[in-house]
Amino acid sequence: MIELSLHILDVAQNSIRAKAKNLAINIEEQLSNDSYQIEFIDDGSGMSGEQLKKVTDPFFTTRKTRKVGLGIPLLKHTAEQTGGRFEIKSELGKGTRLTASLGLSHIDRPVLGDIAGTLMILANNEFSTEIKYHHKTENGTYIFDTEEIKKSLEDVPLSNPEIQLYLKEMIKENLEQIQISE
Ligand SMILES: Nc1ncnc2c1ncn2[C@@H]1O[C@H](COP(=O)(O)OP(=O)(O)O)[C@@H](O)[C@H]1O
Ligand SMILES: [Mg+2]
Repeated sequence: MIELSLHILDVAQNSIRAKAKNLAINIEEQLSNDSYQIEFIDDGSGMSGEQLKKVTDPFFTTRKTRKVGLGIPLLKHTAEQTGGRFEIKSELGKGTRLTASLGLSHIDRPVLGDIAGTLMILANNEFSTEIKYHHKTENGTYIFDTEEIKKSLEDVPLSNPEIQLYLKEMIKENLEQIQISE
């Protein structure tokens, strides 16, 4: 089973390729209505109505390097398989919002997995898309914001291996404190 962090990596990379300046990744775990929601909001190129219609079809991709695009159809499948729902809205020139709600306690809901590793890859993206990761549970909220981190690092680049190790540990520790499910 694919970990949620890998779904997140793939879908977030779409926003980066769409040259978004900002990408918000919001996760909300709610025990009360048994939902695990993942939302992506970007201000990238957006999609036309026609593109949008095709986007949940596994054989649609504008990429040249891989034959089929599986990122969005796979996440949609995972959401629906766990009794949740999937929605994508997009406007050309404005951006895209994608929401996947999964069943929190559903047996087929994948674990989050290595989100710290995923965030490190995304934080070092080639188009300098700023990533804002919000993770909310009933125990609290953790925010990882590349813009803030870059400011506090001053002249040290985010790509510095020691910084990356440090940030990964920081993310893991902070998430452990609020996580209610695997
Ligand atoms: N956030 C986005 N902004 C603009 N276009 C997008 C976005 N997400 C997806 N797309 C378009 O939908 C296509 C399919 O995406 P996806 O299913 O992840 O497969 P792939 O990334 O392999 O092409 C992309 O190639 C791209 O054209
Ligand atoms: Mg993709």
